[in-house]
Amino acid sequence: MSLLATKPLSRIIAESEGGAHSLKRTLGPMSLVALGIGAIIGAGLFSLTGIAAAENAGPAIALSFLIAAIGCAFAGLCYSEFSTMIPIAGSAYTYAYATMGEFLAWVIGWDLVLEYAVGAATVSISWSAYVVSLLHDWGINLPPYLVASPWQPVQLPNGELVHGLVNLPAVFIICVISILLMIGIRESASVNAVVVVIKVAVVLVFIGVGIWFVKGSNYVPFIPENTGRFGEFGWSGVLRAAGVIFFAYIGFDAVSTAAQEAQEPQKNMPIGIIGSLIVCTILYVAFAVVLTGLANYKEFKGMAAPVAVAIAYTPYLWLQPLIKLAIIAGFTSVILVMLLGQSRVFFSMSRDGLLPAIFSDIHPKFRTPWRSNILFMVFVSLFSAFAPISVVGHMTSIGTLLAFVIVCAGILVMRRTQPDAPRPFRTPWVPVVPVLGILVNFAMMYGLGWENWARLVGWLIIGLCIYFSYSRHHSRLHRSHAAPNVRS
Ligand code: ALA
Repeated sequence: MSLLATKPLSRIIAESEGGAHSLKRTLGPMSLVALGIGAIIGAGLFSLTGIAAAENAGPAIALSFLIAAIGCAFAGLCYSEFSTMIPIAGSAYTYAYATMGEFLAWVIGWDLVLEYAVGAATVSISWSAYVVSLLHDWGINLPPYLVASPWQPVQLPNGELVHGLVNLPAVFIICVISILLMIGIRESASVNAVVVVIKVAVVLVFIGVGIWFVKGSNYVPFIPENTGRFGEFGWSGVLRAAGVIFFAYIGFDAVSTAAQEAQEPQKNMPIGIIGSLIVCTILYVAFAVVLTGLANYKEFKGMAAPVAVAIAYTPYLWLQPLIKLAIIAGFTSVILVMLLGQSRVFFSMSRDGLLPAIFSDIHPKFRTPWRSNILFMVFVSLFSAFAPISVVGHMTSIGTLLAFVIVCAGILVMRRTQPDAPRPFRTPWVPVVPVLGILVNFAMMYGLGWENWARLVGWLIIGLCIYFSYSRHHSRLHRSHAAPNVRS
């Protein structure tokens, strides 16, 4: 039964308030929306859009962006309800603890490592590729074995294909951002806001410039005919592409991990979560329409930088390096928010006794969980240095989708078990919205294939071993149940 023990809402809120170990409430609504956009626009938009258009959806990739946005919107509404009821750093982990018990809370906290830490590694690998390409444009060529993992083939100037050894630029950016996060949330949020402005500006410039050179013939046929195989064009291709570019939306939920640092979280959390999702959906659909209108979708096949292909159809070739720079900046802010979210989830798990105290140790001056930042700097760097990007990318998506499914289910449970708890924001049309959220997100998990399911299960099994050997015995909730007179 103890596995199903839930942590009372009143206790969760009380524990988070006051004291020398609390986080600072500094983030207003605009910072939260910026945090969301900072986490959302990244490798998904700038790398996957063209590939998914070329291989799955054609110009109808714009529809795929809408479909993925709908799945995210269901989850986003559920996240909003929770983040106003439980404005604590732990996000989905804390919500599960309050609704479905300690065991599922552990599962989701452990699963979120896939979204945040492994997600940061994925984006750092793309970041590295763009930096290497920009340096190459400027005549600087880094040794190939120092810019790619052992799984990644790299082309030498003479055309020969070799394999990398270690991806040092990816490790570099992870270390720089981890150090920034150790220095402080206010400083991190300011840097993030600047970067967000740059990358939104460049997306707008691309749309504003490109729209004048769009050729109507590129949109015909809008949904290319299915080749006879599921996922290759036709409506099944539109759906498969939605699963692929789902990665581009990951991150809006990271806003909820900053709930404990938000001013007036009851009002500002839904603004941050839903606001960033709406802004990004509009930008993505417009971006996709312009991209596939400038060049024929077939030209994006195998192109990790589709924007460069499309810009070549305008007279503004000088935009190329600027856009590459902005994309690099865009990736930087994604990594920042993901590493921020990761340390905050483990902060909450550590405060609950499920992880060692080192993860909730707050720096006396900077008031950040700095030791946790250092440990994740090392862990994520290992993935960045040595992992293949396709594997880490899909692990990020399946882990995030699982979190979305559990959060939607949590809303259904909470409405039954705590019908009268104050809800500053209510998910509309319950149970329709959470049930659709579960179905749509589970369908996207299904589409990711059995290898990724196997990796997810493997990761969860490691988590279970840690839970049963450590966390269960150190859980503050268990100890307070076992000895009700002892204050924790
Ligand atoms: N949504 C983020 C990106 O596309 C993870 O990079």
